[in-house]
Amino acid sequence: MEHNIYNPEYVKGLFNKMSSSYERINFITSFGFSIRWRRQFLETFKQPNHKVTIIDMLTGMGETWNATKNKLPNSTLIVLDFSDGMLKYAKKKSETKFNNEIILLQQDILNNELPSNHYDFVTCAFGIKTFNDEQLNILAEETKRILRTGGQFSFIEISKPSNRILNSLYGFYLGKIIPILGRLLLGNPEEYKMLWQYTNKFDNAKKATEIFTNAGLQANFISYFYGCATGFYGTKIIPHSLASCKTH
Ligand SMILES: C[S@@+](CC[C@H](N)C(=O)[O-])C[C@H]1O[C@@H](n2cnc3c(N)ncnc32)[C@H](O)[C@@H]1O
Repeated sequence: MEHNIYNPEYVKGLFNKMSSSYERINFITSFGFSIRWRRQFLETFKQPNHKVTIIDMLTGMGETWNATKNKLPNSTLIVLDFSDGMLKYAKKKSETKFNNEIILLQQDILNNELPSNHYDFVTCAFGIKTFNDEQLNILAEETKRILRTGGQFSFIEISKPSNRILNSLYGFYLGKIIPILGRLLLGNPEEYKMLWQYTNKFDNAKKATEIFTNAGLQANFISYFYGCATGFYGTKIIPHSLASCKTH
């Protein structure tokens, strides 16, 4: 029977199975680009002169934390994921490398208990491909709800480059070579094949940018390395009615 690949329980199972090999494979899949992209996707953020609160959605095992803490050192970092497997490694990383200062939450972002109007920054790297449009709509609404007015967000995802040659090479690499590497590195070839299926369906972050804009956020599309990754960043703007009240 064809299962629903966007069912959160199915996605959680997938990441639980991949958790033992994810970090190594992830590094290889992007030829180390993922580290650079995780730094680049935070470039629009500026550290204000007060301590900020950040939430890293779909945090995995904490692959973005170094870049985030380097960019915004004066911060409280709260991270969220629903996979026990990924969070087990995240917890270890927090203990061994971050002085146990990262606050870990195990929740489904689509059905979360996060406070409203609370966070200065929302970050999310390589997590949205496993969401369909309806789920992206929920994600946009939740991002708007939890951010403070003026708060900023940035999302990045592996994408299909628009250049046909690059696209074929990248597709061959992600869809065929990575699952083999997955097997060689005692990972899970079937699960890594699934990741390519998600990327294939996701295409790029243009649609997600539109969904975030329609939700009332100010969102800008961005492409990294010829579209091999794309994303969007922006701000929760002051609603018009409030902005005009302030000027009167
Ligand atoms: C591809 S990993 C990305 C990890 C990390 N952010 C990185 O930069 O590599 C996606 C993560 O999103 C989590 N995830 C997917 N859907 C989720 C949901 N609805 N709620 C919470 N976590 C979710 C998975 O468990 C997985 O750890």
